[in-house]
Amino acid sequence: MALLEVKEIHKAFEGNEVLKGVNLTVNKGDVVSVLGPSGSGKTTLLRCINFLESADKGELIFDGSSYSLSQVTRAQIADIRKRTGFVFQNYNLFANKTAINNVTLGLTSARKVPVKEARQKAMEVLAKVGMAEYADYYPSQLSGGQQQRVAIARALATDPEIIYFDEPTSALDPQLTAEVLEVMRKLAKDGMTMIVVTHELSFAKEVSTHVVFMAGGKVVEEGSAAEFFDNPKETRTKEFLRLTEK
Ligand SMILES: Nc1ncnc2c1ncn2[C@@H]1O[C@H](COP(=O)(O)OP(=O)(O)OP(=O)(O)O)[C@@H](O)[C@H]1O
Ligand SMILES: [Mg+2]
Repeated sequence: MALLEVKEIHKAFEGNEVLKGVNLTVNKGDVVSVLGPSGSGKTTLLRCINFLESADKGELIFDGSSYSLSQVTRAQIADIRKRTGFVFQNYNLFANKTAINNVTLGLTSARKVPVKEARQKAMEVLAKVGMAEYADYYPSQLSGGQQQRVAIARALATDPEIIYFDEPTSALDPQLTAEVLEVMRKLAKDGMTMIVVTHELSFAKEVSTHVVFMAGGKVVEEGSAAEFFDNPKETRTKEFLRLTEK
């Protein structure tokens, strides 16, 4: 059974339809890369499935339970969010909180985990992303790559069943990108289920179990990483791969 299924999601901004019936299936342990040109709707798709944006139409099936993407209740959103993690392009850490306090926040506030236990868990996940020794640093004292690793630790702290990443390395230079991708590679190897919107084609090729290519608000082509990269079928895919080839 799929962990997550998205069916026929539609979303328009002021009459401009940016998602035109997108379907997505993610099985447990999958790493699904979502590729596509700028403006194709990748961020909107992630935001809709995490209810940061409300879709006009569509269904989300999470672990066997079905939710309407346009008419979900606050309680349902809270339930699903407890089981998912989100990593943003620009980290979204609280500037006035140290790394460890950014990580513990979701545990102590929404989940009422006792402080001591939360700090223990935070140190465990900070160690996992190679950031244990920076636990007491503020975001401004960390590089972009280090901040992003703290953001990944924050996502991991709540033991999510799936993590959504929206271009986690696009604000980073190549050295820092490599550090973050290394952490994600490790998560993939440990069996974490992930949806990764990325422009890092070599990473997608290496790590993905499944690739989804979007253009103009639709899925144009999808398949295994090998199929997709070595034998693309659609003209738009071939063009995208040719244009983004380094
Ligand atoms: N809040 C909004 N209000 C109006 N239009 C929006 C809004 N958010 C996104 N859009 C539009 O929706 C379309 C898809 O945007 P989206 O951010 O999902 O693309 P993307 O595939 O993530 O692009 P990129 O690769 O540049 O991040 C774009 O045309 C964008 O201008
Ligand atoms: Mg985007």
